Amino acid sequence: MPRRQVPYSPVPYIGASARQVEHVLSLLRGRRGKTVDLGSGDGRIVLAAHRCGLRPAVGYELNPWLVGLARLHAWRAGCLHSVCYLREDLWKVSLRDCYNVSVFLAPSVLPFLEDKLRAELPTGARVASGRFPLPTWQPVAVVGEGFDRVWAYDIHGDGPSLSPWEVPVQATPESGSTSILKAPISQAS
Ligand SMILES: C[S@@+](CC[C@H](N)C(=O)[O-])C[C@H]1O[C@@H](n2cnc3c(N)ncnc32)[C@H](O)[C@@H]1O
Repeated sequence: MPRRQVPYSPVPYIGASARQVEHVLSLLRGRRGKTVDLGSGDGRIVLAAHRCGLRPAVGYELNPWLVGLARLHAWRAGCLHSVCYLREDLWKVSLRDCYNVSVFLAPSVLPFLEDKLRAELPTGARVASGRFPLPTWQPVAVVGEGFDRVWAYDIHGDGPSLSPWEVPVQATPESGSTSILKAPISQAS
């Protein structure tokens, strides 16, 4: 099916709250494979992901000043060469090798993001969406309240199959406010 054209719709920079970062990590911790933050801002989610063992951790960010700031934070944390911040348009990067995806974007672009995630993510991938849920996908878990809330979605379906060493370990959310909603369903149809 041809993909819908993403309309020009700027997504402003708002850093994830400390709780939001915690919730993203609680949904991704223990998993394997490449972790990416799409629109990584000042890099806080990527840095936190790297620190909790999600490696490699990569941030894609359009704003060069934010890419620079993210690298400065990584340098101050002694992780400059361990994390990767790239000045890239998230709509143009391939997600085919990404098993853990964090997003905190505006609701106006999320329908288009669903299309991209569905078309590109491999089977076994997990998406953590902060503050706003993906509009039509069924979450497997929800953590937190209000502005700090994060929804998790699993990809089960027609994506490329995993090599045995790439099979992600399922995270066990630790937050008391986690609700596991239902068994994962295919997001790839
Ligand atoms: C709400 S902020 C989230 C920042 C970070 N993920 C966090 O949680 O702290 C959204 C970020 O997406 C970036 N962004 C918007 N459109 C983008 C695009 N097409 N490609 C890459 N980054 C983009 C913005 O510059 C902004 O830094």
